[in-house]
Amino acid sequence: MTTKTLIVGASGGIASALIHQCASRGDDVIAVTRGSVSTDSSASNIMYVQLAEQDDKHIASFIEQLREDDVVLNTVIITTGFLHDENKNIHPEKRLEDVREDALETYFAVNTIIPSLWIKHLVNVMDKNDATLVCLSARVGSISDNGLGGWYGYRASKAALNMFVKTASVEYQRRLKHALLVCYHPGTVDTSLSKPFQKNVAAKKLFTPDFTAKQLLSHLSSLNREQTCHFIDWDGQVVTW
Ligand SMILES: NC(=O)c1ccc[n+]([C@@H]2O[C@H](COP(=O)([O-])OP(=O)(O)OC[C@H]3O[C@@H](n4cnc5c(N)ncnc54)[C@H](OP(=O)(O)O)[C@@H]3O)[C@@H](O)[C@H]2O)c1
Repeated sequence: MTTKTLIVGASGGIASALIHQCASRGDDVIAVTRGSVSTDSSASNIMYVQLAEQDDKHIASFIEQLREDDVVLNTVIITTGFLHDENKNIHPEKRLEDVREDALETYFAVNTIIPSLWIKHLVNVMDKNDATLVCLSARVGSISDNGLGGWYGYRASKAALNMFVKTASVEYQRRLKHALLVCYHPGTVDTSLSKPFQKNVAAKKLFTPDFTAKQLLSHLSSLNREQTCHFIDWDGQVVTW
């Protein structure tokens, strides 16, 4: 049977590579983006869907439509994430005085609330016998690994995301039996999200989106499914919560 895969945040650097690699291995891919939908896809097994608003109501009705169409998902990768916005003058904070209410709202809205709402509704359309749900998180969201400080909004919103995923994994396990939930640190990847922060990254530690997608898909196929929730990095190593 064909694997059904949903990628959220389809216009992103890592998401684009994931979409194409999942399609090349034969998955039926649904790729959701806020922006305009790409029509130049040569692959017949990629379906782009525009979902401009990603709030509770719109995500619920998108999932309800999948249910009506009898779509059952095996793999979901939520790539939604936000680190900086030049237009809104939002940058990762270096010190407490840099913390701003509007920036915190944006960090939590994009990095925590949107993925959490997807997780809330997705439980109703995932395969009861073969469900894998991944959220792209970040090592800086690890509470125990935080020696450097700074980046308050991004760190806190990814830590909150991790807690939501870990908490949801308990209920997913009850409702879907074989569900696996994963928080994933992709490393530093050459996308617009990391652009302003790449200068201190050694060339061999700045990964291409293609490499990142390959690593993620390879780790997913070998994770221990007896453990219902993992936090791992690009190398397959455990990241402590
Ligand atoms: N790049 C890195 O070095 C790195 C490192 C650690 C973790 N990560 C994580 O990896 C994930 C993917 O990052 P990326 O590097 O591929 O970044 P990217 O190219 O900027 O993609 C991020 C995606 O998030 C979605 N998004 C952004 N703002 C949003 C908003 N306000 N509402 C809804 N969706 C929004 C967008 O999807 P649409 O516009 O298509 O809907 C966008 O395509 C993120 O969660 C990021 O935190 C990246």
